[in-house]
Amino acid sequence: MQSLPGFRDFPPEECARRNYIFARWREVARHYGFVEWEGPLLEATELYKKKSGAEIVDQLFTFTDKGEREVALRPELTPTLARVVAAHEREFKKPLKWFSIGQFFRYEKQQRGRLREHFQLNCDITGEAGLAADIELVALCIDVLRAFGFGEKDFVIRISDREFWTDFLREKDVPVDRWDEFLQVIDKFGREPREKTAEKLGKLVDPVFATLKSGGKSEKLGKLVDGLRGRGLADFVSIDIGIVRGLAYYTGIVFEVFDRAGKFRAIAGGGRYDNLIGQLSDGTVSLPALGFAMGDVVLGELIQEISRVCQIMEKAIAQDRKIDIYVVIAKEERRADALKQIQQLRDGGYRVDYPLTPTKVARQFQAAEEAGASLAVLHGDEWPQLKIKNMATGEQELIPQENLKDYVAAHRS
Ligand code: HAM
Repeated sequence: MQSLPGFRDFPPEECARRNYIFARWREVARHYGFVEWEGPLLEATELYKKKSGAEIVDQLFTFTDKGEREVALRPELTPTLARVVAAHEREFKKPLKWFSIGQFFRYEKQQRGRLREHFQLNCDITGEAGLAADIELVALCIDVLRAFGFGEKDFVIRISDREFWTDFLREKDVPVDRWDEFLQVIDKFGREPREKTAEKLGKLVDPVFATLKSGGKSEKLGKLVDGLRGRGLADFVSIDIGIVRGLAYYTGIVFEVFDRAGKFRAIAGGGRYDNLIGQLSDGTVSLPALGFAMGDVVLGELIQEISRVCQIMEKAIAQDRKIDIYVVIAKEERRADALKQIQQLRDGGYRVDYPLTPTKVARQFQAAEEAGASLAVLHGDEWPQLKIKNMATGEQELIPQENLKDYVAAHRS
């Protein structure tokens, strides 16, 4: 039996890499004063039909539950966040700065960078309409990637403003109900054949191509970049009016993160969605909001691609995997005493391992080495003395067994 297409197993090495990513995500979000939250994995399908857009609805894992409800595995977090904020809005002081790390499911064609499940870091700010929040959010996204060791030569955040295009459409008298369709075409520009894009754009083709070529102008985006420049982060971003995002609910500044070499798919994406909370609460709660999500799949590929960053990860994982003490049981009659001591050491907060069954001493030392133990404690003929081996230097010494606790405290690395 194999796992389903697009689903991953996480044996220990893969799990350690995944947890390393989660740890960096959590660390930086907390540095920015964000608090962690979580929502359910299963939601009413209706939640996504309302405002996420056709593309994501087509990719839903849906089924009817035993209570005849149409439900879906969550493909993203933003509609859940909007639902939760709308329901509990009064309990929280604004602005809310929330982050979450969880798994998402999209029935996509499995390909490089796209699976049917993935993990995301979501960071969202609700209740703040000013540009300061957009700047803070983009800075957070940059710093999350910097925490892995990436620099401005490794990735770029392409920033745009949907309002630029909605102003354009208004000016060209395009009816509002066709805006979404138009934005989808811009979103796919460059990924679809030019003739297909031209056909979809109809009489707008010339002004759109000209705007995309000239880059367009936006005062708001200029201010955003200035704000980042003040923090020394401007080299991580570039204005690219061609970014509009595939999801339907965005209203203002939007951005996507790519590797500089342009080899991979988007690492992260987000933007403002000032109307979503209002739309999902039928107008009872109206709050501006913005956020982004970073996926673990493309990020993992980019870490593997850039050896400097990969080495930082592997070193951290190797360090984290290490145990403190390996207890070598050289004489089986000492096992009961050894176990008593192991229990005490573990209670004292040490990572301790030992052989579950009678094992040759040489094999036990080998296990101590493989587990990265800094000390091996040998229970053998010397009892009630213990032989201690410093695994790094190879030095050995005998200590009375009652001194072990103090000894390991003094040698804690
Ligand atoms: P999204 O662009 O659909 O945005 O997804 C965010 C990131 O999740 C992508 O850039 C990508 O790295 C990763 N991702 C998405 N789908 C897959 C997949 N099938 N396989 C692997 N990775 C994937 C959102 O989800 C928005 N809800 C983000 C947001 C939060 N906007 C505001 N707040």
